Amino acid sequence: MNLIITGLPGVGKGTQANKIVEKYDVKHLSTGDLFRNEIKKNSDKGQELKKYMDAGNLVPDKLTIEIFKNELVKPIYKNGFLLDGFPRTLEQSRAFDEMLVDANIKLDGVIALDLAEDIIIERITNRLVCPKCGKTYHKLYIKPKKTDYCDVCDMKLIQRSDDKLEAIENRLKIANSQTKPVIDHYNEKNLVNFITMKKTDDTNVVFSMIENVLDRL
Ligand code: AP5
Ligand code: MG
Ligand code: ZN
Repeated sequence: MNLIITGLPGVGKGTQANKIVEKYDVKHLSTGDLFRNEIKKNSDKGQELKKYMDAGNLVPDKLTIEIFKNELVKPIYKNGFLLDGFPRTLEQSRAFDEMLVDANIKLDGVIALDLAEDIIIERITNRLVCPKCGKTYHKLYIKPKKTDYCDVCDMKLIQRSDDKLEAIENRLKIANSQTKPVIDHYNEKNLVNFITMKKTDDTNVVFSMIENVLDRL
């Protein structure tokens, strides 16, 4: 299966992607994670990416598409992929659609997560991440076993550098104007499955809604 998971920043894409890859034969490809790994290397490219990301701006399409293409051609994605955070602009979706045609790959579905923005802000501002393995927690709802330390690596958890209120508001504004048209684009092709969530839907409830969709594909 070849899938996209999309939705506003902080809606739960990464959290659900981790559950999806455990059950289905798809490899997770998050452009945000790819960029953060490049930043960790402290390369020139990483420093350029950090500038855009910390302010909550999108990385320019040309650079994003180049990095994405170099990743997607790797053999690990041959059996199936789950894109998280790409495509996020119409220009990226055009480049991706061309790639699919050239490589004779079929996109099976798009999962669009939907949640009210005030709940999203509460989720992002309380997010903690492991600097080593990237595992994500929430200070109130998805707590680590030992306060402030990763369950897997025992590393001290940190806040993401773009999880400051100013950057979050910018990310939401950009996503509403640039990423919503991408969802419309795939909806016109009848590929989008909307998952509308309530504040109280925990990660398992959301995952069972996604399973219902994926088991029908
Ligand atoms: P990216 O890393 O993709 O960030 P994002 O889209 O802003 O999304 P997030 O990762 O913040 O949220 P998420 O939906 O994964 O939510 P999560 O599961 O963590 O991109 C970062 C930046 O990189 C961009 O701003 C841009 O600069 C750049 N970039 C990336 N891709 C790009 C592209 N294609 N083009 C240009 N630039 C690009 O959940 C959030 C919180 O909620 C967590 O604390 C989690 O524990 C909690 N939570 C999740 N589910 C639940 C639940 N059901 N109940 C309670 N809490 C929950
Ligand atoms: Mg994410
Ligand atoms: Zn960890």
